[in-house]
Amino acid sequence: MNQPDVFTKCVKFTTAREVMAAGVYPYFHKTESGQGPEVVIDGKKRIVVCSNNYLGLASHPKVKEASIEAIKKYGTSSTGSRFLNGTIDLHEKAERKFAHFVGKEAAILFTTGHHSNMGAISTIVGKGDIILIDKLDHASIIDGCDMADLERQLSKHQDKGKLIVVDGVFSMEGDIINLPEVVRLARSYGARVMVDDAHSLGVLGETGRGTGEHFGIESEVDMIMATASKSLGSIGGFIAGRDEVIHYIKHNARSLIFTASLPPAQVAAIDASLDIIAQEPERRLRLWKNTRIMNEGFKALGFDLRTSESPIIPVTVGENMKAFQMWRMLFDMGVFTSPVVSPAVPENQAIIRTSFMATHTDEHLEIILDAFEKVGKQLGIIPGGGRRKIDYENEAKKGWRLPFSRAKMAAATKQWIKNLWSFNGSNTK
Ligand SMILES: Cc1ncc(COP(=O)(O)O)c(C=O)c1O
Repeated sequence: MNQPDVFTKCVKFTTAREVMAAGVYPYFHKTESGQGPEVVIDGKKRIVVCSNNYLGLASHPKVKEASIEAIKKYGTSSTGSRFLNGTIDLHEKAERKFAHFVGKEAAILFTTGHHSNMGAISTIVGKGDIILIDKLDHASIIDGCDMADLERQLSKHQDKGKLIVVDGVFSMEGDIINLPEVVRLARSYGARVMVDDAHSLGVLGETGRGTGEHFGIESEVDMIMATASKSLGSIGGFIAGRDEVIHYIKHNARSLIFTASLPPAQVAAIDASLDIIAQEPERRLRLWKNTRIMNEGFKALGFDLRTSESPIIPVTVGENMKAFQMWRMLFDMGVFTSPVVSPAVPENQAIIRTSFMATHTDEHLEIILDAFEKVGKQLGIIPGGGRRKIDYENEAKKGWRLPFSRAKMAAATKQWIKNLWSFNGSNTK
């Protein structure tokens, strides 16, 4: 009898090759330079409009220096699991600093954000509990649950332990969760709330503490997840919360126990980035200025940005192939974006996902808008006609609408810089 071959699906998988043959394949492009607002790909400079390096810290001199010093002292690997030989003092220092930053009793640092979501969710939600997630939550949240089991649990309503898990900023649509409403429901039904602040840490709130701070309800969030691969210029994932909850996760999460811990250089980068978030609040201001310019700029051109209200701005294109085409045209004009196509988004709702950084200059933004205008018109996505030129000088004087108060920001920043003293052993001012 002919035995089925597990490789058959690989042989039959032709979709990516078809897109390659059409010359519009947008994935796995090699960057040949450091991570800034511009990178070199195929020997040519391109403006990056798809990075999660929101504050530009992945190439900050102090962050790089901290990593180099850590390698000199600790070497290049932690050589084991956090549980056994792979915990170094830097891990614990970063955990204490992060917990303090987000106002929680304790935190645990996983090797990636994906690991932290999987570890925390699968550990906290046991048999007999239920988890409630949004369908637009990130894959690592969904991977952390058994969906069939979730459905079975949801169909019953009885006295279960309940965990609601939400993204603070949704990674594709760029909108912000209505956290006060989530918290209200959670409190009415005795559920716990976990917020994935992957795209909100360093971005939302007076001091960049994320979604809880943005809404002024930090203490209502039971568990905060944050990844270090975005605003923290590194890699790794934190879960912060009550001491006994973190203690439990630490001793039970398989994705923590059965994998090697974060290497010293990456932990040191996180530690330094947390300091810089406090010391250089102007980065957050610039990020929001860029966000406003681009949101208004794209809309003025006639693009549909869905419900975006953050530095993640999805530009609606339509068909998958059109999104690939648009990506290629922008790429050839020196603008590097990310197309997101179905099934990641609903059929015929493909987007060019753009995301902005504090380190984009006015000149970068102009080039990006020009490129989108030309390509959008050529592909019939936006109407013809000219666009309003942005007068950056005057717009800046008017002051950009911020999602937080500048006065509160100044006071909170001052306080947090004072607090850094206890972690770093010196005044970092
Ligand atoms: C909302 C969200 N959560 C979690 C993750 C996983 O983080 P990491 O890339 O650090 O594994 C991501 C990364 O894309 C994300 O967007």
